[in-house]
Amino acid sequence: MSFLEVKGIVKSFGKTEVLKGIDFSMDKGEVLAIIGSSGSGKTTLLRCMNFLETPDSGMISVDGNVLFNSDEPPYSDALKREKRLHFGLVFQSFNLFPQYNVLKNVSLAQELRRIKGKKLSKDEKKAILREIDENSRRLIDTVGLSAKVGSYPCELSGGQQQRVAIARALALEPDILCFDEPTSALDPELTGEVLRVIRELKTSDRTMIVVTHEMNFARGVADKVIFMADGVIEEYGTPDEVFGDPKSPVTKAFLEKSLENI
Ligand SMILES: Nc1ncnc2c1ncn2[C@@H]1O[C@H](COP(=O)(O)OP(=O)(O)O)[C@@H](O)[C@H]1O
Ligand SMILES: [Mg+2]
Repeated sequence: MSFLEVKGIVKSFGKTEVLKGIDFSMDKGEVLAIIGSSGSGKTTLLRCMNFLETPDSGMISVDGNVLFNSDEPPYSDALKREKRLHFGLVFQSFNLFPQYNVLKNVSLAQELRRIKGKKLSKDEKKAILREIDENSRRLIDTVGLSAKVGSYPCELSGGQQQRVAIARALALEPDILCFDEPTSALDPELTGEVLRVIRELKTSDRTMIVVTHEMNFARGVADKVIFMADGVIEEYGTPDEVFGDPKSPVTKAFLEKSLENI
């Protein structure tokens, strides 16, 4: 069994079937790039995997644990929050808390998870807060922002904000880190620094899914590539297979159009 198994995911909004049966699997440490035109269902797929949407049918398992099975009764919100922790999600629009500095943006979710609602002595709480502080500073260093721990989002460039969002997602130690077009809200000169961080995470054996329009990045960094069209996986393979020798005419047309725009 693969590390991640996604089977038969179907999702409709009203009468529109947006995902029409998505099946794929990933090994631990693999990087999967998902490409495809706007509206093909990429974001919906990531949102289903993060329990921000509930699929109409299908199954998702990570490391042998079934996280979603449409045959089971609906999950409570608390259970969804618990399940969501297996996946980290970095959005296109950073979504940092503007009122908190970089350190607090990275540490907040850890504090909520480890302290809120728990009966802890003063000393226990202090020790956990110290651990969270150290962990957060280490992650901020990983994304190259040690000099900015005390800065507020409005004082950072878009690329820096996105790197904070990556540190924040890493802080909850997800099994799989998902990115939804992490550079498409950035000016071209700022995309490089974000892609570099993602590339470095690959060297530390992170399992990652990256929805992207950056074809060179997908080709250079991903182990596998999925091309989605109209709610189905139209093409799946290694970057060389998908970019070098696409089987489906729809994939060929998409890639030719993408190349024109470079
Ligand atoms: N919450 C929603 N309600 C209704 N339709 C939605 C919703 N989210 C997405 N859609 C529709 O689903 C389709 C796929 O959207 P999306 O997953 O965002 O595609 P992509 O990320 O590939 O651009 C689009 O037609 C979009 O309008
Ligand atoms: Mg999208």
